[in-house]
Amino acid sequence: SRFSTSAANMIKKITVIGGGLMGSGIAQVAATTGHKVTMVDTSEDILQKSVKSIQASLARVGKKKFANDEAAGKKFLEDALSHIKPTVNIKEAVKDTDLVIEAIVENMDVKHKLFRELDQAAPQHTIFASNTSSLPIGKIAEVTSRKDRFGGLHFFNPVPMMKLLEVIRIPETSDETYKKLLEFGKAMGKHTVECKDTPGFIVNRLLVPYMMEATRMLERGDASAQDIDSAMKLGAGYPMGPFELADYVGLDTCMFIIDGWHKDYPENPLFKPVPLLQKMVADGKLGRKSGEGFFNYKKSSM
Ligand code: NAI
Repeated sequence: SRFSTSAANMIKKITVIGGGLMGSGIAQVAATTGHKVTMVDTSEDILQKSVKSIQASLARVGKKKFANDEAAGKKFLEDALSHIKPTVNIKEAVKDTDLVIEAIVENMDVKHKLFRELDQAAPQHTIFASNTSSLPIGKIAEVTSRKDRFGGLHFFNPVPMMKLLEVIRIPETSDETYKKLLEFGKAMGKHTVECKDTPGFIVNRLLVPYMMEATRMLERGDASAQDIDSAMKLGAGYPMGPFELADYVGLDTCMFIIDGWHKDYPENPLFKPVPLLQKMVADGKLGRKSGEGFFNYKKSSM
């Protein structure tokens, strides 16, 4: 069928660039689903931390998966870890890889610098993908000579728990490349959805403006943060309210995303900056990670 690739043609070896929150999750899941993974970051120190966090997460997953079989859980952990090779050497990491997944800082200049280097170092057949949340894939791909072998693989945090994978194609992405990316996503055990290279793809395109509109409501004094969250949980069946979600994502991240889209699409009222959000970020209220956002997470005040 249109969606099957011969076994010999499948993605087996992958390279994840960036061993942070997302990169380590992607590396972990790829390793537990039978892929050989090389994980790259900027220092041995960071890589060591990434491996530690993968180890802890694998132990949790293993415990759940093999509840009455400690030996099987241990084997699961060791097998997966043995399939992840951490390195700071990009050239070495991509020399015979089928797919590179980029999960470094959300900054176009830094991503361009990386992809220029990758384009030189990787073999012809290697497919490139970015895990970016808010930057256009087509713009990231511009610095490479392989736009036909370029796409987006947008995972969700935490990667081992979240089933969804948005698979993005730019106009130049070949059918062959797109098919391989979709099949790779399924091989990773994810539910794939297809989307064009539009701001926020599917999930964030709907969620971010929704969180911003909730913030505008609060700013006008229409309702309290607590009541808006309760209303959306109990009235719309959402697992989290918009403010609980914004605090989880990080208010600085929300602001960075909406400001970026506003710059690219100044006429879209959904992307208008929100003064209350800007003030909170300026005051260092970033959500859970700073101890305070729309809600307070400091122990003393609970
Ligand atoms: P993070 O800050 O946790 O990790 C980024 C890692 O990349 C760090 O370990 C850093 O040392 C490394 N890095 C930076 N520049 C590098 C370079 N030139 N070469 C190699 N490694 C480099 O960030 P996070 O949250 O994992 O985000 C990474 C990407 O994933 C971003 O593009 C972000 O938009 C996207 N994303 C984030 C989600 C989230 O919930 N945090 C969800 C989906 C996508």
